[in-house]
Amino acid sequence: ASCATILGIESSCDDTGAAVVNEAKEILGEALHSQKQLHIDFGGIIPPFARELHRKHLPAVVDSALSAARMTVSDVDAIAVTVKPGKHDAWKEIELKMKFPFLVLLVSGGHCILALVRGVTSFSILGSTLDDSPGEALDKSARRMKLRNLPELSMLSGGEAIEKLAQQGDPSAFQFPFPLGRARDCNFSFSGLKFYLLKTIRRLEEKQKVEGDQLVPELADLCASFQFTVMKHLCTRVQRGMGFLDLNDLMPKNERTLVVSGGVASNNFLRSALERVCNEYNYKLVCPPPRLCTDNGVMIAWNGVEKWIIGCDITHEFDSIVPEGR
Ligand code: KG4
Repeated sequence: ASCATILGIESSCDDTGAAVVNEAKEILGEALHSQKQLHIDFGGIIPPFARELHRKHLPAVVDSALSAARMTVSDVDAIAVTVKPGKHDAWKEIELKMKFPFLVLLVSGGHCILALVRGVTSFSILGSTLDDSPGEALDKSARRMKLRNLPELSMLSGGEAIEKLAQQGDPSAFQFPFPLGRARDCNFSFSGLKFYLLKTIRRLEEKQKVEGDQLVPELADLCASFQFTVMKHLCTRVQRGMGFLDLNDLMPKNERTLVVSGGVASNNFLRSALERVCNEYNYKLVCPPPRLCTDNGVMIAWNGVEKWIIGCDITHEFDSIVPEGR
């Protein structure tokens, strides 16, 4: 039989993406139209606008993915689409040649999940966020710090802007309260950090009024300290999850992999911190390239291929294991 090809279409949030992937797991063509700049200009994603833009750009994006693959729509065997609207359902499976089981940390604008992936449709959730996602906390904080007003940051997402400004700051300048320090599980929480940042900004602004000094150096310190605490929290929970899997023999001794995905996975500070955690527990860190870390058509087509191969149209099976104990 010939090799099946799947067209994937992604429109779950603010990117219109399409890709053609075949059963041999080759990406034959891909195209993306990002609405990011428009949403940055509006200070957030407005769903009816996003929908209109998807409607407008989808035909051209699909055409361009198909023509990159030298195909027309009648050549594809199946079409995979993101089935649920909104930011909270696009589960991202994007690593290309993975062996099961592996550990995945999904950190985006809509999610924060640590899970053991047992198979194409089988996940055990080790922990997830109790409140905000890290991307949400970064975006809202960047907005509150008015980072868009700084010319060199005006085109960046909140997370990118904070990462960039943090490079000039001192991560130990502000002592953020460490989230869930005593919680013996792998859940996450970011709202306390966000709140602390808001309080600090207010205090700095008051001071600025009195002394009339420039806020930028303090903003850089604040960004560095905030980023440091957010990423340290992520690492601490991953570390705990790895320890738990070890204790319960849920991860083979060899060929251990941690996949980090979602928009926040592009953060270099996070990547290098996770690299250290992985070294300690003998995991290989796999960070898909940034273009595959955010919403895109390839992940949807890929998921379509995996389901095509095992011939299923069933939904994912989720269970959760609560890492209790030490
Ligand atoms: O996965 P994604 O593209 O979309 C949704 O979740 O909808 O993730 C977007 C998020 C945004 O919150 C953005 O601020 C964050 O990823 N992000 C980053 C970086 N680049 C994007 N956060 C931290 N560091 C970055 N370099």
